Amino acid sequence: MDSEHRFRKRKLKGTSSEFNHVPRKKHAVARAPHENEDGHESVALPSEVAAGNETSTLTFKELGIIESLCEACTALGYKTPTPIQKEAIPLALQGRDLIGLAQTGSGKTAAFALPVLQALMEKPQPYFSLILAPTRELAYQISQAFEALGSLINVRCAVLVGGMEMVPQSIALGKKPHIIVATPGRLLDHLENTKGFSLRSLKYLIMDEADRLLDLDFGAIIDKILKVLPRERRTYLFSATISSKLETLQRASLSNPARVSVSSNEYQVVSTLLMYYMFVPFMHKDLYLVHLANEHAGQSAIIFTRTVNTTQRLAILLRSLGFGAIPLHGQLSQSARLGALGKFRARSRDILVATDVAARGLDIPSVDLVVNFDLPPDSKTYIHRVGRTARAGKSGKAISMVTQYDCEILQRIEAALGKKLKEFPSEREEVMVLGERVDEAQRLAIGEMKDLHDQRGTRGATLRGRRRPAGRRGRDDMDREEG
Ligand SMILES: Nc1ncnc2c1ncn2[C@@H]1O[C@H](COP(=O)(O)OP(=O)(O)OP(=O)(O)O)[C@@H](O)[C@H]1O
Ligand SMILES: [Mg+2]
Repeated sequence: MDSEHRFRKRKLKGTSSEFNHVPRKKHAVARAPHENEDGHESVALPSEVAAGNETSTLTFKELGIIESLCEACTALGYKTPTPIQKEAIPLALQGRDLIGLAQTGSGKTAAFALPVLQALMEKPQPYFSLILAPTRELAYQISQAFEALGSLINVRCAVLVGGMEMVPQSIALGKKPHIIVATPGRLLDHLENTKGFSLRSLKYLIMDEADRLLDLDFGAIIDKILKVLPRERRTYLFSATISSKLETLQRASLSNPARVSVSSNEYQVVSTLLMYYMFVPFMHKDLYLVHLANEHAGQSAIIFTRTVNTTQRLAILLRSLGFGAIPLHGQLSQSARLGALGKFRARSRDILVATDVAARGLDIPSVDLVVNFDLPPDSKTYIHRVGRTARAGKSGKAISMVTQYDCEILQRIEAALGKKLKEFPSEREEVMVLGERVDEAQRLAIGEMKDLHDQRGTRGATLRGRRRPAGRRGRDDMDREEG
């Protein structure tokens, strides 16, 4: 029995050194890195290849991935590595720090999870790796990905996110998990308040959606976390929109990182995504939205809005017109947030109306359509929002509603994308026919919204808390600022 086969059935115990001899195959196509103008090493790569693309003939095994993890990939339906996996994994197995840029839905999670799990197999220990994510739902999803990929080795993960009770999380930490997936604010709370918990022996830090985590909103918290992590560690930064601005990256204190970039720039979308704009008079936005919902009835759609109020109002409006719509935003309780996402994933609801709390990272393969009811505040957010569809080689459609006030934002997005969006055809008369029914639903939605606001702060209320002055947000609630 070869050594790989032997530890396929083994369980990670936390301290065993029996896993030391993992044969590492050199990856046949790993290219010699060269310096780019930032002084970082980079790898020149082909672009425009989506996850699930079958043209790659390399296997995970040929990348140097051990048998038990290859088996888990097969069980998940991963036949061949995606381009980012093909490029990142060999460098990671060589022990390099990584900056990974690849389009939405292209398999970045496994690109960082597999090398971490493989290193964990070699030298199991508690608190081996920390994965930071900007939103709570994404943290849960990443933990599930680690558990699925590490299923044959019984990897133990703990999720530390705001909006959930501290005590069960402290108990989970007491069980010495190998992998911790956290949102920054809650992790810091645990580092400061949970007895016996420290990350002094951490080996791997991963920042998923790293550009978001390294932006100003999270700045102070991330700096505090970085201060208590050992400098002797591997660090991976991944995102679909990570620029090579040195100042940002230096903050994460990478050591001689390899930049692995499957996108040619930070504003690239996958070729299987069809993007449209629809010109809509501001006063008729609701009507046009209902028209779109009718046109796409039966399909699974995410509608993005700019505010919590609009999200809640549209969900009520659509529901009163008979659509299976459910809201997701940062003012819901965490169990309501997870519940909404769960129902949408399970397809018991076809429309998720969401703020930007759902813009990044969420992987829901069934999503056919993304609608920007409000245009996003910046082009990066546009890339992430529309990337909730057309994932893993699938096709998808994104329609952005543009009013007379939004032309400039649309132009900015088009300039960043380097292409013009096509106009989505709509017949004004067809839309206006819906007027009466939508008027009635709007009145109903306003009434329900008023009730929700009156109940706010009371037990069982759907909308939580009272409005807080800007800048006084609890660190636990960082992702509420996404709406
Ligand atoms: N090698 C593979 N073959 C087929 N499917 C894969 C492979 N690797 C990952 N996937 C699937 O592709 C989907 C997208 O992966 P993932 O969520 O990691 O994308 P991402 O690059 O992180 O996207 P985002 O930028 O939106 O976070 C997931 O459903 C995942 O299971
Ligand atoms: Mg991701």
